[in-house]
Amino acid sequence: MKIAVIGVGTIGRAIVQSLIHGRYNGEIIATRRRLQKIEDLQGLGVKITSDNSSAVKEADIILLCVKPRDVKAVLSEVNEEVKGKIVVSLVAAISLRYLKRIAPGARFVRAMPNVAVLVQESFTAYCATEDITEEDKENVKGIFSAMGKYLEVEERYMDAITGLSGSAPAYIFTIIEAMMYAGLKVGLPRDLSLFSSAQTVLGSGKLALETNIHSAELKDMVVTPGGVTIEGIYELEDSRIRTAIMRAVEAATQKSQKISAEIEKEQ
Ligand SMILES: NC(=O)c1ccc[n+]([C@@H]2O[C@H](COP(=O)([O-])OP(=O)(O)OC[C@H]3O[C@@H](n4cnc5c(N)ncnc54)[C@H](OP(=O)(O)O)[C@@H]3O)[C@@H](O)[C@H]2O)c1
Repeated sequence: MKIAVIGVGTIGRAIVQSLIHGRYNGEIIATRRRLQKIEDLQGLGVKITSDNSSAVKEADIILLCVKPRDVKAVLSEVNEEVKGKIVVSLVAAISLRYLKRIAPGARFVRAMPNVAVLVQESFTAYCATEDITEEDKENVKGIFSAMGKYLEVEERYMDAITGLSGSAPAYIFTIIEAMMYAGLKVGLPRDLSLFSSAQTVLGSGKLALETNIHSAELKDMVVTPGGVTIEGIYELEDSRIRTAIMRAVEAATQKSQKISAEIEKEQ
């Protein structure tokens, strides 16, 4: 299957690179207006163009990776060429209903990955319009599997997914940065501090996923009576870290809902 990636910025580029990393055997066409920014992809066998219409015409599956406010212009531009094709929108806050309204002839999958697609470790949640067949889904899942893990969800969860796993790499990087500085404060060299922080986040996530043990129980495996860790936990609880993270996810979810309402109202 030929894939056209429309809007190759951060996420579009990461997806193209993941497909190449996963030895995708179909043709990949990448588009953006400032073509010089993706010239390097040609060396990886990717066809580049700033002509969205010709890219969509050639492709079987279209991955839409532009910002929410550019969706209407781009889909209107390719309205004819996109008819009957599968469009996977990776765009935050834009509903299937809105996509279908702009390009009624296309069949849509709405997906929310995260920036870990850069290392093929994204979590991608997706939902689809009713005219997407099981065979279409298998083709799309082939793309998602090159990006990391994926799961089909009901569309009503997509704003919450955007606020949680779509945005959470930024929260986790804030935590990693704080841990790294904490290491400096207690006298660790910078490289050692960063490596031990990031590897600990990776290992903790892996442990939670692979053992399926509740995180409270895993935490108790580290916190021994009268030990070192309970001193750290005491300070963390006093700083209300749980509320801080819950508020971050809630605020991002609400923002996604707000953008969605604003854009849909404009039409
Ligand atoms: N970044 C993340 O972590 C993340 C995670 C999940 C989902 N997303 C979603 O992914 C989408 C893209 O995000 P991003 O962070 O990758 O943004 P980005 O880096 O700004 O990429 C968007 C790209 O769209 C291109 N573009 C704009 N108008 C275009 C047009 N008419 N034709 C072709 N290309 C066009 C821009 O390049 P030119 O200006 O050169 O055309 C730009 O490179 C957003 O909708 C976002 O919600 C992002």
